[in-house]
Amino acid sequence: MVAETHVTTPQLILPLFVAEKTTNKVEIKTMPGIYRHTIKSALLEIEKAMQLGVGAFALFPAIHEANKDKHASESINEKGFLPQLIIEIKKQFPACVLISDLALDPFSADGHDGFVQNGKIINDETVLRLGEMAVLHAQCGVDIVAPSDMMDGRVGHIRKSLDEKGFIETSIMAYTAKYASSFYGPFRDALDSAPKAGDKKTYQMDFRNSKEAIRETLLDLSEGADFVMVKPALSYLDVIQSIKKVSHVPVAAYNVSGEYAMIKAAAAAGMLDETSAMVETLYSIKRAGADVILTYFAIEMAQWLKENK
Ligand code: PBG
Repeated sequence: MVAETHVTTPQLILPLFVAEKTTNKVEIKTMPGIYRHTIKSALLEIEKAMQLGVGAFALFPAIHEANKDKHASESINEKGFLPQLIIEIKKQFPACVLISDLALDPFSADGHDGFVQNGKIINDETVLRLGEMAVLHAQCGVDIVAPSDMMDGRVGHIRKSLDEKGFIETSIMAYTAKYASSFYGPFRDALDSAPKAGDKKTYQMDFRNSKEAIRETLLDLSEGADFVMVKPALSYLDVIQSIKKVSHVPVAAYNVSGEYAMIKAAAAAGMLDETSAMVETLYSIKRAGADVILTYFAIEMAQWLKENK
């Protein structure tokens, strides 16, 4: 009766990895229970999740190496894999909330979220491309675009690009406080998207800082973000809490791949109980102030919530 915090199934978002040119789904070694899907198996996973009440999905394409280049050309190919995937999912499940990631890394031979020139990330050219990607995804039927790139000024430009093309209802979930984190390791394995040179520290945030997260939040809000996100979640619960205080839009938290992998690995080694560690983790993220949570545990948690009502 007096519990202060509740996690509910509609607040969970399931990230999905879907691979181009594959015939079978393949389990990701570092993320037991999570797969690189084919389009067909992704549709089955969505159906399973929706039956449990999970209604929102964040799509991450694993693009074939041959389709990656320095200009991330594939990111705006209308006939490309991601547009096809979005159209297919929306055709089968018009009621699901579909979220597409905006960043160049899955399409870029450099493996960076922005264009690279002489070893540096080119902010403004990247922002223009993100606007084009947002319009393409919206044309295919995506409900929310989620810039995960951390370029400056992208939320405003994406909003303007969408509005100019009439996509006034497409929302923006901004990766607002995205830290340069070692906890993304398993995700990069899943997509083969690790940077080929350097790291992401010139555009993702420094884990020693939290004031910058407030500055990023105020900027994203003023540029038109419909959600602000903190990522990763667990080492940044304080950041979730402080952003919640200043944000007048919902706060999302991304319980990232490495956080999932830690619980799975410890449980597999008999070091802790998986279910109770998962439940405690997701409640702690809610308690810190997240309104919605992106988590690879979405299906397992929905199952638990159903059984423990
Ligand atoms: C890439 C992106 C990353 C994640 C989501 N979008 C990785 C990165 O920035 O290198 C990480 C998600 C996870 O670890 O679960 N733009």
